[in-house]
Amino acid sequence: MAKTPLQFRHNGRDVAIFVDGGSNLLVALRELIGDTTPKFGCGQGGCGTCSVLIDGELHLSCLTLAETCAGRSIETTAGLRRGPDLHPLQTAFMERFAAQCGYCTPGMLMAAKALLDRNPNPTREQVVDAIGGNICRCTGYESIINAVLDTARGDGRRRA
Ligand code: FES
Ligand code: FES
Repeated sequence: MAKTPLQFRHNGRDVAIFVDGGSNLLVALRELIGDTTPKFGCGQGGCGTCSVLIDGELHLSCLTLAETCAGRSIETTAGLRRGPDLHPLQTAFMERFAAQCGYCTPGMLMAAKALLDRNPNPTREQVVDAIGGNICRCTGYESIINAVLDTARGDGRRRA
């Protein structure tokens, strides 16, 4: 099958790959770039664990054609940490025990980041709404919601 050249920014770094026609961004990230933080869950847009930011907006990478990402900026959970410093959302998730099996966690973190980037002081209802497309089978959601609210209050330090 013919491959298509594709360039975009991945967590602030320029990358150039060749993708199969019709392949999705999740496959490109995981198999061609080696960023396995976006998870394969349902592969059909129903679980949210593959969520990434594209030019700052939350998207499901399993439903995003890789070729549509040419020239765009992709952020994943792999880019949240700064050297040894966790992102405040990651710190808050740890402190609130908001990850159990952890399979939903990358998608939850990106959904939460998308929210806080546009609304640094969300209400509880806005947090619930922001993670509404992300399924968690372990936590019951309360610890996740509280972790996002903690981050908004600045309990997790760095905001970026
Ligand atoms: S893997 Fe993309 S929404 Fe489930
Ligand atoms: S922590 Fe297991 S699915 Fe959310």
